[in-house]
Amino acid sequence: MRYLLASAVLLSLASAVAIPTNQGTHNGNESSNGNGTNKKITVELGPRPYYLVDNMDEGPLKSKLQSCSEGPFKTSDFVFAHRGAPLQFPEHTIEGYSAARRMGAGVIECDVAFTKDKQLVCRHAQCDLHTTTDILNRTDLASKCTTPFTPATSNGTAAKAKCCTSDINQAEFKTLCGKMDGFNPNATTVEEYLDGTPYFRTDLYSTCGTLQTHNEYIALVNGWGLKFTPELKKPEVPMPFQGYTQQQYAQDMIDAYKAAKIDPSRVWAQSFVPDDIFYWIENEPAFGRQAVYLDERVDTVAGYANATASLPDLAARGVKIMAPAFFALTKIDNATGAIVPSEYAVAAKAAGLELVTWSFERSGWLNKGGDYYYQYVKPVINNDGDMYTVLDVLVHQVGITHMFTDWAATLTYFASCFGL
Ligand SMILES: *[C@@H]1O[C@H](CO)[C@@H](O)[C@H](O)[C@H]1NC(C)=O
Ligand SMILES: *[C@@H]1O[C@H](CO)[C@@H](O)[C@H](O)[C@H]1NC(C)=O
Ligand SMILES: *[C@@H]1O[C@H](CO)[C@@H](O)[C@H](O)[C@H]1NC(C)=O
Ligand SMILES: *[C@@H]1O[C@H](CO)[C@@H](O)[C@H](O)[C@H]1NC(C)=O
Ligand SMILES: *[C@@H]1O[C@H](CO)[C@@H](O)[C@H](O)[C@H]1NC(C)=O
Ligand SMILES: *[C@@H]1O[C@H](CO)[C@@H](O)[C@H](O)[C@H]1NC(C)=O
Ligand SMILES: *[C@@H]1O[C@H](CO)[C@@H](O)[C@H](O)[C@H]1NC(C)=O
Repeated sequence: MRYLLASAVLLSLASAVAIPTNQGTHNGNESSNGNGTNKKITVELGPRPYYLVDNMDEGPLKSKLQSCSEGPFKTSDFVFAHRGAPLQFPEHTIEGYSAARRMGAGVIECDVAFTKDKQLVCRHAQCDLHTTTDILNRTDLASKCTTPFTPATSNGTAAKAKCCTSDINQAEFKTLCGKMDGFNPNATTVEEYLDGTPYFRTDLYSTCGTLQTHNEYIALVNGWGLKFTPELKKPEVPMPFQGYTQQQYAQDMIDAYKAAKIDPSRVWAQSFVPDDIFYWIENEPAFGRQAVYLDERVDTVAGYANATASLPDLAARGVKIMAPAFFALTKIDNATGAIVPSEYAVAAKAAGLELVTWSFERSGWLNKGGDYYYQYVKPVINNDGDMYTVLDVLVHQVGITHMFTDWAATLTYFASCFGL
């Protein structure tokens, strides 16, 4: 949901793979029946959850998870597919969404951004085309970027580029190839700049991911009989944009579900912008009652305290679901060393708020205590299996109802084991 890797990208050693400039061949509906009722697929988890369970410290949770090794594994609405399946697949592509579906995600995310012709498309940020697509390598489109590619210099100035969905129209957007999110700040050529996938991900499926408009995503996910979590991304251009207001943008996103006759109970609309949440509560109450308030105030100590104190007021204004990053929902109990619910988590429950959180499987190895997402529990994190210990506290003590993940299988294993 948030772009936290900018300073942590590492130069991949993999050699660049030729990327065709046309779209992939999948239309994504070969397995859908168009009625939103095609749920009959076999959920497959692959080896990763087993690796993580084997890696856990001995104890009752490990024993319980081991007892579930042979399934059955089922599609679960607990599992929100964050950007698709970006641990291994280019984000917001048919291929990534399809992988998440196969791994049991009941709800698929589209981060919503607008193009120059004010159409909605799935991208994590309005201005991430330079790190998530091949646009810089496209002679017909690269020059349209807000900031075209500028190479790194020998005196240490990093390479620069900034390409926004609002720099191009929707038809042009559809011709781009999705790639793994990342860049090499030391690049002196476009080719080097594009080659920056973090060490714990892979370029194996990064040969030309098929991008989706918001409407195509709705048709695709509806065809699979799954549910939706669109995030209205913060504009990175001044609003109104050529007459396009923030309210119209928030309304257009909801209107797409109404036009497709999607029941609002199948849609979790999210935003980091409180006014978007309040807009939906007031103007589209059927969608507003399931709107997800992404809470980034917790990122600073003072903000965390303020956010915690504000929860009863937010509940009184009609907010039902709060969603801070998962680090903010737990802490270490100093007396016992155990991971326990945080002050924020306790206050949210007391205010009658539902909690959703993000994002699992974005951290890479946990053997050194993990990253941002594990900042409050770092002293007790020392192996990859510890992510299930944190998850267990989030589910069984904090009481989260859904979680975003970059790799659905890891959550589906747990969800099926505990009947979530
Ligand atoms: C870029 O160069 C700096 C300085 O030489 C180095 O520390 C860093 O690891 C390099 N980054 C990448 C992604 O190659
Ligand atoms: C960039 O474009 C060139 C020429 O079309 C192609 O050979 C190369 O593989 C592309 N590289 C990337 C990373 O897209
Ligand atoms: C959609 O549902 C209707 C009624 O249940 C059924 O007759 C029709 O065959 C379905 N369409 C597809 C494409 O499966
Ligand atoms: C490095 O060089 C660039 C131009 O090549 C210049 O704009 C920049 O100010 C220089 N930075 C430093 C730290 O000298
Ligand atoms: C399904 O694919 C066909 C082409 O095979 C295309 O015409 C149609 O628009 C697609 N439908 C959806 C819902 O994507
Ligand atoms: C916290 O709330 C106080 C009182 O409303 C305010 O003055 C302060 O700026 C807030 N701090 C943060 C970081 O939000
Ligand atoms: C618990 O430990 C943390 C980190 O050492 C510290 O910041 C916090 O104040 C302690 N809390 C209590 C209640 O002692």
